[in-house]
Amino acid sequence: MLEGRMMPEMILLPNGQVLIINGAQTGYAAISSVAVVQGNSNADHAALTPSLYDPLAPLGRRISNKELPTTDIARMYHSSVTLTPSGNILLAGSNPNVNVNETVKFPTEFRVQYLNPPYMSMARPTLSGVPAKIAFDSRFTVQVTIPQSVNRSSEIKVALMDLGYSSHAFHSSSRLVFLDASLSSDRKSLEILSPPNNRVYPPGPGYLFLTVGDATSAGMRVMVGSGASPPVPDQGRRI
Ligand SMILES: *[C@@H]1O[C@H](CO)[C@@H](O)[C@H](O)[C@H]1NC(C)=O
Ligand SMILES: *[C@@H]1O[C@H](CO)[C@@H](O)[C@H](O)[C@H]1NC(C)=O
Repeated sequence: MLEGRMMPEMILLPNGQVLIINGAQTGYAAISSVAVVQGNSNADHAALTPSLYDPLAPLGRRISNKELPTTDIARMYHSSVTLTPSGNILLAGSNPNVNVNETVKFPTEFRVQYLNPPYMSMARPTLSGVPAKIAFDSRFTVQVTIPQSVNRSSEIKVALMDLGYSSHAFHSSSRLVFLDASLSSDRKSLEILSPPNNRVYPPGPGYLFLTVGDATSAGMRVMVGSGASPPVPDQGRRI
C-alpha cells in the first residue's frame, strides 16, 4: 500500500484490476471508545487519492496512484462505492456521526461522485445479442464490435460480474469470473463458455463485460442459471 488506509473500499474492475478507494489514513472504524474521536469512529486523515492494484504488473509495482485524481471530499466511516453497469465507479457517503450532522470535521456527506476509468473516454468495444438467461456449463455466442484503434493482438477478456457494493470495508456480493471465450476470424462474434456451476458463480443476475487491451465495454445484464427463486438445487457440472 502507498499509505496507511483503513476502511478502504476495494472494487473489482472488469479488466481484473482492483480500485482501492476511500477510508482514512489513521484510526479505526466503530466505535468511538478511545482518545481521538471523530463522530462515531476514531478514523481521521481521510485518504483522498485512490490506488489501483494491477495483478499483472511486475512485483513491487502492482499498486500505483499514477494519474488517479485526488478529491477534496472525505469519505470515511459509512462511505459506499459500486461499479456501475456502464463501467465507471459511483461514490457516496460518508457519515461517521450518530445522526445527520453538518457542523463537524467529517459532516454527513450528501454529495455523490463518479470516477471514470480511462476506458470511459476511449473508443469502446460493444457486446450485443447477449441472451437474457445463460445456463451453467454451456456455450453461447454474442455479437461484438471492437474499435479500429484497439491493437489487433490485444488479449481478450470476458468478465462475468456481480457488481456488488462496498461500504466501510464490507464488500457484499462482489464477484468476477473470467470466462473462456474465442473470437471469430471476422472479429464480429465471440463464443463464450459459461461458468461450470453455481459454486463458481452464484445463480442470479450478472453483467457481462468485454475487455480488449485497454478498452472495456459497458456491461450487459444476464440472468445466470435457471432464474428460479432461491433456494435452488446445485446446477451445472460437478467439479
Ligand atoms: C454534531 O456533533 C457534535 C460533536 O459530537 C455535537 O456536539 C452536536 O450536537 C452534533 N449535532 C447534531 C445536530 O447532532
Ligand atoms: C500490439 O500488441 C503487441 C502485443 O502486446 C505488441 O507487441 C505490439 O507492439 C503492439 N502494437 C502496437 C502498434 O502498439
